[in-house]
Amino acid sequence: MILDANKKENIFKAADVIRRGGLVAFPTETVYGLGADAFNEQAVLKIFKAKGRPLEDPLILHICDITQLDRIAEEVPEKARILIKKFWPGPLTIIFNKSKNISDKITASLKTVAVRMPSNNVALNLIKESNTVIAAPSANKFQGISPTNASDVEEELGAKVDIILDGGMSEYGLESTIVDCRGDEVLVLRLGAISNEQIEQELQEKVSLKVVSIDSKAAPGMYELHYAPKKELIFLDERQLVNFLKQNSITEAVILCFSKQEEEFLRKNGFKEVVVLSQEGSYKEAANKYFSTLRDLDKSNFKSIICYKLPDNGLGRTINDRMKKASHHGSGKV
Ligand code: TXA
Ligand code: MG
Repeated sequence: MILDANKKENIFKAADVIRRGGLVAFPTETVYGLGADAFNEQAVLKIFKAKGRPLEDPLILHICDITQLDRIAEEVPEKARILIKKFWPGPLTIIFNKSKNISDKITASLKTVAVRMPSNNVALNLIKESNTVIAAPSANKFQGISPTNASDVEEELGAKVDIILDGGMSEYGLESTIVDCRGDEVLVLRLGAISNEQIEQELQEKVSLKVVSIDSKAAPGMYELHYAPKKELIFLDERQLVNFLKQNSITEAVILCFSKQEEEFLRKNGFKEVVVLSQEGSYKEAANKYFSTLRDLDKSNFKSIICYKLPDNGLGRTINDRMKKASHHGSGKV
């Protein structure tokens, strides 16, 4: 059932569902989340079931107030304090040593827990009215494309969710960045809506991208195929594109690219079906449109979708990561 998140009574209804152990899909500034009461293990298990998600893939906890962190985290490292001050509420998830209160189901038995404070008002009000902490992955089926509006959630999960709160289009359109700053080195475990450059500027040091896969228990959940459409997706940089054109026909393919500049280059190389994420070359616009554009292309008549690599900095790097993980041919490890 989709309910208008602008009506206060619908937030109350949704909070009631959370308190009773049900599932609510809700907007955040990144993508839509599938939420349950983090302190109700049965409710948390419903999340995994609804998504078809394996239990070894841990969940992110969502808080609305910094005082809630005491109940979740054992300690807050100094660098985490700096990042919290700058980026919360907002699309940054931080790894903490977990407190005993947190169920192993949430953390996939890890000793750490991932936490963020979203900036979306509907999300904040829902957490507040539920009077708890909300565990929420993105509201898509396991390995599928993340939803950035209420009807995408409906398409993904339908009746498996008790309530879908409709709060319009997600602002960023990419998931939060996940950072671990417990040790000497600052590790980015997942590229996201906050760029590495923004974190580096705040901490005045370089961050390292930690390659994680399901095999490494350090951070499970980083499956090789992720964020993927049903159609074949091919991810190419400029060099790979040249080789690809020598060996393949592109008559049944559509190519997705960043800006006008790439479009011109691709048309010169023979592409007729070109979809541009941001004419002006704005990363913010491209990020905002990426998942929903991919979802539309997945419903189109094209046989395959080619994604052309964006410039590898800022949010371009995050979009490249999503494209690569969604590609059936990519190494998957970014
Ligand atoms: O923007 C977002 O983060 C969205 C919205 C809904 O908040 N949520 C989201 O959740 O993207 P999800 O479940 O799709 O991705 C969370 C990822 C997991 O795949 C897992 O790898 C990582 O977070 N994660 C969770 N707990 C972790 C932990 N303790 N250590 C390392 N990685 C963790
Ligand atoms: Mg997800």
